[in-house]
Amino acid sequence: IMEEADLKKKLAGEKAVEYIKDGMTLGLGSGSTVYWTLKKLGELVKKGLDIKGVPSSLRTEGWAQSFGVPLTDFQKVRQLDLAIDGADEVDPHFNLIKGGGGSLVREKIVNAASNKVIIVVDESKIVTRLGKFALPIEVVPFGWEVTASYISELGCKPILRKRENQVFVSNNGNYILDCLFDKIEIASELHLRIKEVVGVVETGLFIGMTDMVIVGMSSGVQTINK
Ligand code: A5P
Repeated sequence: IMEEADLKKKLAGEKAVEYIKDGMTLGLGSGSTVYWTLKKLGELVKKGLDIKGVPSSLRTEGWAQSFGVPLTDFQKVRQLDLAIDGADEVDPHFNLIKGGGGSLVREKIVNAASNKVIIVVDESKIVTRLGKFALPIEVVPFGWEVTASYISELGCKPILRKRENQVFVSNNGNYILDCLFDKIEIASELHLRIKEVVGVVETGLFIGMTDMVIVGMSSGVQTINK
């Protein structure tokens, strides 16, 4: 039996394939909601849909391969038609916090290269204001302690991400600091201030990149356009 939250993710993830057209190059996002997009997409490919996707994480790459979704990379394509990705928080302006799964850098590169970005989430991700979810920031491992102390001056207490007692290492070989800010006033400003800190690779704030949000709810699925 599937849990309620997973059912909502499935609803949103599967709905997104309706926006995929024959011949498109796709950005394949990461996370447990996009999992359902990939699974459904694999079924459509088996029925003859002709698409290619650039995966935004090693896990997504593995899922795509197992579902038969054809892959490509940025050596072959520079511009993608559509990216479908998950998020940890979505605000009313479609600004996002991402990186709960640790793939924020590749996700941001993929989404930035896409003409259109669709975000798939369950309703628990919809917030009035970003910041309850600790903001993931990817940093270079060397001197991460120094980088963290500069970031803390911006109003948070950075926590080095660990999984099973080991330091979590991103697909790019970097560390992630999970940063709970007292308050995120202006997300775009905070993003820029963090980016100025030496050692920071990228922040999980995705500002002005999203065109459409698909929300899975207990009452069904809702598509919100900008
Ligand atoms: C991965 O780094 C994240 O940005 C994911 O997109 C995000 O955590 C959403 O994941 P779920 O769909 O698993 O909640």
